[in-house]
Amino acid sequence: MWAHHLIIPLVLISVSHGHIDRSSYILAHYMNLLSIGESWILTNFDLDSNGTFFLAQNSERRIEFGFKNKTLYMVLPISKSRIQSNNWEKRYVIDFDSIGKIGRNLELIITFQNNHIHVYNGCDEVYSDFEPHLQLTLNHPSLHIVDNWKGPEPTQFLIGSGWPIGQKCKHDGVKKKYADAYTEKIERNYEPSAIDAINEIFFETVVQVPPGFDGCKINNALLNINETKTVNCNTCTCVDRDNVVCQAVDCPAVTCTHPMIRKDDCCPSCGEQCFYESHKIANPHGEVFWPGDCYRCQCWDKKVHCSSEYATCEPPSCPEEDWVYNEKFNCCPKCRDFARFCAVKPCHKYATCTDSKRGPKCSCDTGFQGNGTYCEDIDECSFSQDAKEQLGGCLSGSTCRNVPGSYKCDCLPGYQMIGENTCLLLIRV
Ligand SMILES: *[C@@H]1O[C@H](CO)[C@@H](O)[C@H](O)[C@H]1NC(C)=O
Ligand SMILES: *[C@@H]1O[C@H](CO)[C@@H](O)[C@H](O)[C@H]1NC(C)=O
Ligand SMILES: *[C@@H]1O[C@H](CO)[C@@H](O)[C@H](O)[C@H]1NC(C)=O
Ligand SMILES: *[C@@H]1O[C@H](CO)[C@@H](O)[C@H](O)[C@H]1NC(C)=O
Repeated sequence: MWAHHLIIPLVLISVSHGHIDRSSYILAHYMNLLSIGESWILTNFDLDSNGTFFLAQNSERRIEFGFKNKTLYMVLPISKSRIQSNNWEKRYVIDFDSIGKIGRNLELIITFQNNHIHVYNGCDEVYSDFEPHLQLTLNHPSLHIVDNWKGPEPTQFLIGSGWPIGQKCKHDGVKKKYADAYTEKIERNYEPSAIDAINEIFFETVVQVPPGFDGCKINNALLNINETKTVNCNTCTCVDRDNVVCQAVDCPAVTCTHPMIRKDDCCPSCGEQCFYESHKIANPHGEVFWPGDCYRCQCWDKKVHCSSEYATCEPPSCPEEDWVYNEKFNCCPKCRDFARFCAVKPCHKYATCTDSKRGPKCSCDTGFQGNGTYCEDIDECSFSQDAKEQLGGCLSGSTCRNVPGSYKCDCLPGYQMIGENTCLLLIRV
């Protein structure tokens, strides 16, 4: 299927045969796989396609996205605490057909920004919701490509973090065109949704329009003609049968880098700074910081939200038997004291390696100079005559020849070597 076309920037995931390839040295990095700070998933596909297009799960949770009969379904994990037994799932179903003709191709962007879920088709926002107990972070998940996709392959599939809409829709802004949608709490069930099962649950909770009703239906609510209702921060009026006119609530501009929408507010505002664990220095609202390799925190409106994350670890510079994992919030191995650093040959070939408490000590061999990581030959022949003599260098009747790590004395023509450094003039009798 299209597993091999997954492009996931920022995260080091390589997908083959539907499973994550985790090489022994670089641990797969899931930091941004829909962690709850700010993340997004983008995909582009034919509106007539059906099936699950993304499924990540571990033994506790799953995140699933699929499309069926012009309807997007998302199964998201909800948890009131980090204790596993409190977990449940919620299915969000968003009917793209209800917003009328949207072309053959769907450019779907689903964003998560601290418990706010938004779904866009291009720059049209079609759905938004606030889910206070959303738990998207999955530790040690496996990423499955479900084999039930029917239709052409999605032309794009990206996961990232940040806020893509601001940049992407900078010029024309985001229009709100809300689709019909509903959500339901579902039993935990880690089988990927089979197409048939989805069929059964699909439209059952949608408000039915009573016969003879000639008002409008919007977001599962019925409006009589001339009736006005605020729906997801839009003021909507039913002007005629099935004809709703909505106007987004007008919001003043905000200047901070991580504007947030507080619960029950329609307009973004700037959050407040946080103090992490009684630190004296504040973290600005929105800032992400890592108190350990595997512990990611984000300041969000006075509160610091932290979660365990899976990090990218560089292999430490000692043999694997000497790795230790023992510090708070750190999951990357470190070398123990006096590890066999020299075993991985960190020094130059003309240097001698000695293990010390924190790392290798490299010192250049006699006749070489440098810092030990790099050693170069000393040209003894370029020393001054005095120095040469002190060193017992080449004496009269000879010339000096540099060799790696040392030097040799060669006799001048007509001279003969007596001892290592001295030549005597041959006197022919
Ligand atoms: C597809 O959705 C429409 C409503 O949007 C519904 O009338 C129809 O029965 C659905 N078809 C299937 C096969 O579920
Ligand atoms: C997707 O499902 C709908 C409704 O069940 C159907 O009409 C459509 O042909 C399906 N698309 C593909 C590519 O199978
Ligand atoms: C809706 O309002 C318009 C203008 O105020 C009025 O002309 C019309 O009769 C109203 N329709 C209904 C069904 O109340
Ligand atoms: C050692 O010297 C080489 C060559 O000058 C240099 O490239 C390298 O960065 C140095 N290494 C250290 C650890 O100072």
